[in-house]
Amino acid sequence: MTYKIGIIRGDGIGPEIIEQAIICLNKISFKYGLTFSYIELIMGGVAYDKTGNPLPQETIKAALKCDAILLGAVGGPKWDNLKGVLRPEAALLGIRKALGLYANLRPALLYKALENACPLKESIIGSGIDLVVVRELTGGIYFGEKRLYKTKDGEEAYDTEKYNESEIKRIAKVAFDLARARRFKVTNIDKANVLESSRLWRKVVHNVHKDYADVTLCDMFVDNAAMQLVRDPGQFDVILTSNMFGDILSDEAAMITGSIGILPSASMGKTAPFLYEPIHGSAPDIANQNIANPIATILSAAMMLRNSFKEENAAKAIENAVNTVLLKGYRTADIGNQNIVSTSKMGELISSFI
Ligand code: IPM
Ligand code: MG
Repeated sequence: MTYKIGIIRGDGIGPEIIEQAIICLNKISFKYGLTFSYIELIMGGVAYDKTGNPLPQETIKAALKCDAILLGAVGGPKWDNLKGVLRPEAALLGIRKALGLYANLRPALLYKALENACPLKESIIGSGIDLVVVRELTGGIYFGEKRLYKTKDGEEAYDTEKYNESEIKRIAKVAFDLARARRFKVTNIDKANVLESSRLWRKVVHNVHKDYADVTLCDMFVDNAAMQLVRDPGQFDVILTSNMFGDILSDEAAMITGSIGILPSASMGKTAPFLYEPIHGSAPDIANQNIANPIATILSAAMMLRNSFKEENAAKAIENAVNTVLLKGYRTADIGNQNIVSTSKMGELISSFI
């Protein structure tokens, strides 16, 4: 079987971490008899520098012909002063929208070997951490009407949080279906005590829940959720939330599992290609030093094998290899202070255990 994988290396640490994921995929190809063809696509700051557009039309056209897309990270201080639509981050939102990737799955799992890297007390992580943030990805305040304009008192700006029933319904279904494959619990996170859009969100989620009587649903306000994640993370199974709340809470969820450097993600829609990327950014401060943690990207490749290609054994092989390398004590600088290895060494080690 040949799979066409679009590769977006991006900016900052993007190219370094993507390289390690490719090394692991090549090992998978060898071991499992799968053929991968890699199609290089440009996006983000590099694309802006080359073409004046952070998301060239050709990138979207070529992406649509791929079976799946693996992305490193985009953005950096070099492009921070560009106007909004030209920023690398706008390209990321643009490709999510163009490919219709409304469901973003961000699994946060605390590996036994990384309990030392977890900033929470042992008594708090007693029951472990194993949750998935299901983040709505193509709606809400990220895509609502926005404007910056002058008034007689100076500049003024707004962004709009807006959701319609069908957007909420489809993401709620993703969360409930996922819960059925896990521990049958969905925590819906919103700000329904204040926001009209959250009240609609909650109403629709409860309507969808009627078809999922076997799944427990509870509601939580987002401020409380931020607190509960560090007070008792073991209570969460599937977290269902909006685009912006999901962005914020997934960084927190990542950190309590040891580092933002290990959390992968899958962005999915109705039809292929889906997009896989680490949840962290381009970390320009540590770029080109061969010290970044490639695990989130390597685990994103595993999610691609599972969700897009239905190659469960190959996906597990990568996840087991990551676990083995961690159990053997190897660490990148973000998750330890002994046995520190470089980005490329970590990639090589993981690939050697596949
Ligand atoms: C993420 C990132 C992006 C987001 C940024 C880079 C636009 O923080 O994927 O979590 O906010 O969605
Ligand atoms: Mg984020």
